[in-house]
Amino acid sequence: MLEIKNLSKTYNKGTDMEKQILNDFSLKIEEKTTLAIIGTNGCGKSTLMNLIGGNILADAGSISLDGKDLSNIKERKRSKYIARVYQDPSMGVCPSLTILENMALADNKNGVYNLSPLIKRDRINYYKDLLRPLDLNLENIMDRKVKELSGGQRQSLSLVMAAMKNPKVLLLDEHTAALDPKTSKLVMEKTKDLIREKSTTTIMITHKLADALNYADRVVMLKDGHIYLDKKTKDLNLDDLENLYKEKEIQ
Ligand SMILES: Nc1ncnc2c1ncn2[C@@H]1O[C@H](COP(=O)(O)OP(=O)(O)O)[C@@H](O)[C@H]1O
Ligand SMILES: [Mg+2]
Repeated sequence: MLEIKNLSKTYNKGTDMEKQILNDFSLKIEEKTTLAIIGTNGCGKSTLMNLIGGNILADAGSISLDGKDLSNIKERKRSKYIARVYQDPSMGVCPSLTILENMALADNKNGVYNLSPLIKRDRINYYKDLLRPLDLNLENIMDRKVKELSGGQRQSLSLVMAAMKNPKVLLLDEHTAALDPKTSKLVMEKTKDLIREKSTTTIMITHKLADALNYADRVVMLKDGHIYLDKKTKDLNLDDLENLYKEKEIQ
């Protein structure tokens, strides 16, 4: 269980740019749940995710995973438990390195950034086995630089690399937003397969309400840093969700 308790975050504190994003925010996410977070631009979705991932620290409150307090664990250490895929297809991968080199880096638990001795030949078949189910031919172009791949190929590779760490929690921040509808669906399907296979607790920020309903077990809608709606997807339908979303925007 991921437990967020009484979290507060204000940017630029003490300046005239001061902006409170979260105030006394609490949320519990059961193990193996896929939670979709929706809400209009600027409502604090990414801030919440950055706090969970440890990219930024909270002013107050705590985040714990299976009872272990993560609040003071730095991002790099936290990434052992919490993996992430970003919106930007060039984040989370090294674009100037090859697919093989990227996977070797993801595989290298010690975090030593010295590549050549790092690629263990006997791991290559394992990497290929991980890529094959994507059906994107990536396993046959392991020496291709990641910057030469399409957005969909890169996001799928990012997903596989995130899953390689066997994280307890997977964070997806609009990871299909930069993709065309067809590729977006494909990447969402791969995401679903990976989450199912590993039963990973997942938090997915999305603007696509249909994706929230189709792929998540629970939907939380944020409004100005507060929970405006928190429901199981089985108790929601797309019309209701779209109406709520519109209602919220004009308020
Ligand atoms: N590092 C930062 N410094 C100052 N303001 C920020 C920073 N990051 C985000 N913000 C502001 O905080 C608000 C919430 O941002 P964010 O959490 O990214 O929203 P969302 O992901 O829901 O669109 C926005 O108004 C944004 O401009
Ligand atoms: Mg965001």
